[in-house]
Amino acid sequence: MIRSVQWHSKRLQHSLAPNISQLLKKPPALDSALTVNGYVKSVRSLKKVSFVDLFDGSTHESLMCVLSPADAEQLKTGQSVRFQGTWKQSKGKEQPFELKTQAVEVLGDVPANYPLQKKLHSLKFLRTIPTLRWKTGYLSSILRFRSQVDGRLHRFFEDEGFFKTNPPIITGSDCEGAGELFQVESKSKESQPFFGKSAYLTVSTQLHLEVLCCALGKVWSLSPTFRAEESDTNRHLSEFWMLEGEIAFIDNVQQLTKFTERMIKSIVKDLVEDNNGIATNLLKSQRSEEGMEQAIGKLQQRWSSLYTEEWPCITYSEALDILKRSGVKFQIPVRYEDGLASEHEKWLAGEHFHSPVFVVDYPKEMKPFYMKLNDDNSTVACFDLLVPEVGEIIGGSVREHSLEKLHTEIEQRGMNKQDLQWYLSTRENATVPHGGFGLGFERLLCYLSGVSNVRDVVPFPRAHDECEA
Ligand code: 4AD
Ligand code: MG
Repeated sequence: MIRSVQWHSKRLQHSLAPNISQLLKKPPALDSALTVNGYVKSVRSLKKVSFVDLFDGSTHESLMCVLSPADAEQLKTGQSVRFQGTWKQSKGKEQPFELKTQAVEVLGDVPANYPLQKKLHSLKFLRTIPTLRWKTGYLSSILRFRSQVDGRLHRFFEDEGFFKTNPPIITGSDCEGAGELFQVESKSKESQPFFGKSAYLTVSTQLHLEVLCCALGKVWSLSPTFRAEESDTNRHLSEFWMLEGEIAFIDNVQQLTKFTERMIKSIVKDLVEDNNGIATNLLKSQRSEEGMEQAIGKLQQRWSSLYTEEWPCITYSEALDILKRSGVKFQIPVRYEDGLASEHEKWLAGEHFHSPVFVVDYPKEMKPFYMKLNDDNSTVACFDLLVPEVGEIIGGSVREHSLEKLHTEIEQRGMNKQDLQWYLSTRENATVPHGGFGLGFERLLCYLSGVSNVRDVVPFPRAHDECEA
């Protein structure tokens, strides 16, 4: 007998049908009549019966659908379909349930040369098919993972008494002072600047967050951020998402390092304790030439070591000493005045500490104007968090809250004071010690998922000479 389930009842006909993840997690009663939508992953036909693996992007698992060879004849990999059938206990060992399919509707056909076949495609090849690549098991697990980490961060900040704010994307100032700005202008009006002055896409929402933290205390944002850097590397994007936090009434950099360590550990705790959820899906979707077991083991090991161990913290001078004494022949020579190159950062975290490491107190000349000067008058109260394989993922500092000192710094750097007048007014009206940080969301995702290129953790990557789709 075919029984109707809730989402088929007349009363709920406008509700959403459950996806495959929901069906597998909360299976309907056996013999329920169901409609399942998805894409054909593979078709296998025997004499009297055919099997279709159906996926819909909600989980890395597919749903086994059993149908007649006549119905299966019209089906091929990639098509979008709607199946109607009955929910049954599976006879096979691979999955507990299956859909005994009675009606098959092809919603969208695919061409004969449909590129996603049941084999391992290289990530480089997949980048050439930007509208299809998210249908692969591995990359869809990365997007689900991105969504999970995003959600976890919301919970973390809420628990910590922060308010999520939405600073502007269009700004009049170059927060980092590096000149890597995209200018914003109206296409139709060529004579007058649209905003009455030069305007840019934000390189960091920090300056606005500083204003907001002076009003609300603890604030954060997760916003698109833009940098016109021409570097073609696996860790730079022209449009990336930055998570920024800004906290009033703090006065030392350790308050920031401890906080960000706790923040990342709170995500990792979720991953380690994930009970057959998205993180487990990600593990099961691993792909590696070394073999699945090894890839899964490596990631699990990364998560558990991150979660349990305390991360070291060294000064910039100490980092330079370690690099110089290492005897390693780096491609870029180690020199105090040149800062840390990406290979130095990766070596420190990956080869020396085998752990994320905080580097604090960089020379003032290497950092932007807003950082608080240390008592030595040559370094600033700042930190970078470096992680193995990726390098820097967070940059932050205590902010200079003295108007006088900021004025001096802006003048010495030859910056335009007029453009920053709105920002400087925070120092004229009940200024408070404060500080914050910015985390590159894609870089964090790369590190946590083991993906080596930021282009594979963002849906539609924008980089120099790269704006497909
Ligand atoms: O170190 P950055 O430049 O710091 C700031 O912008 C500060 N104003 C943030 C703050 O204190 N509120 O950038 C922060 C992080 C870097 O550590 C890096 O992870 C990421 O943003 N990042 C990029 N990620 C991808 N592509 C790029 N081009 C990036 N540039 C920086
Ligand atoms: Mg930085």
